[in-house]
Amino acid sequence: MRCRRCGEPAAINMRHYKLALCAEHYPAWFVEKTQRTILKYRMFTYQDRILVAVSGGKDSLALWDVLLQLGYQVDGLYIDLGIDGGFGYSTVSKEKAQAFATRYPKAHLHIVSIPNLYGESIVEVAHRKHRTQRPCAVCGLIKRHEMNRVALEAGYTVLATGHNLDDEAAVLFGNVLHWKVGYLQRQSPVLPADGEGLARKVKPLCRFYERETAAYTLLRDIDYIYDECPYAKGATSITHKETLTQMEHDAPGTKLQFYLHFLQAKQEQGLFGTPEDSTPDMHPCSQCGQPTTATDICAFCRLWT
Ligand code: AMP
Ligand code: FES
Ligand code: ZN
Ligand code: ZN
Repeated sequence: MRCRRCGEPAAINMRHYKLALCAEHYPAWFVEKTQRTILKYRMFTYQDRILVAVSGGKDSLALWDVLLQLGYQVDGLYIDLGIDGGFGYSTVSKEKAQAFATRYPKAHLHIVSIPNLYGESIVEVAHRKHRTQRPCAVCGLIKRHEMNRVALEAGYTVLATGHNLDDEAAVLFGNVLHWKVGYLQRQSPVLPADGEGLARKVKPLCRFYERETAAYTLLRDIDYIYDECPYAKGATSITHKETLTQMEHDAPGTKLQFYLHFLQAKQEQGLFGTPEDSTPDMHPCSQCGQPTTATDICAFCRLWT
């Protein structure tokens, strides 16, 4: 297999695009394609200040790297959730994010520690509030709140996450399987800010397969944490990913078509509506000021009461 651009041996073959590229031309293609996604979905411009939420995993570090290369004004945010899992999951992932930041003199990494700020790890909060050993729901709530808070306090206009095509296709699959119409309305590469002063949310890697972001980090020599969060095992999103991966194996391009045709149906035919259609009545939480649908105190602040 040869690189389509230069004829040298290919480093990756993307059957769904009938495109093979070498170790030099693949990262360049990845950066160009990210830029096309940013422009296509009008995610942000060079005037925006962007905060990338970095988990220490391959996708979000790849995203930070690409945005820095494209010359955007972009900083990172790592949220230390205090997860150990027998191998210091949070500590190791934080170190990977910190190590990446040293590659660029201009890259600034904000670090927020949940145990230091609020006195408990997410596992402890989940156990105290919900008597569960599975912190995923509490984790999602805390991460969303902290991302919004840091973006607001430090004046970022855009919040970017590293969700890839495999993530988005699996979420779409789950939403369709259970006909969660409100979630289908809100599933989008760009989400308008939830409230005044808050950042718009974007997913610039949503058109890349996980394998493609992995290849990018490998060829760019970016070190990341290989382990998944220890609480991810058995999550339904993982079962959905496995099902789609089996379908992809039988028919390459399945995930891409599934996701892109969904976006097209929304954009061109108005199917499922837009995120704006489903935005419920929000007002500021009386404690933290972030928008909430609750009557007084938001779900995040209620965690600590
Ligand atoms: P996940 O929900 O773990 O699949 O992560 C989805 C995206 O959320 C990642 O690509 C990151 O952009 C962001 N993210 C996840 N965990 C963290 C974290 N601990 N700190 C900052 N951002 C995170
Ligand atoms: Fe949140 Fe695993 S990263 S529970
Ligand atoms: Zn080449
Ligand atoms: Zn609140």
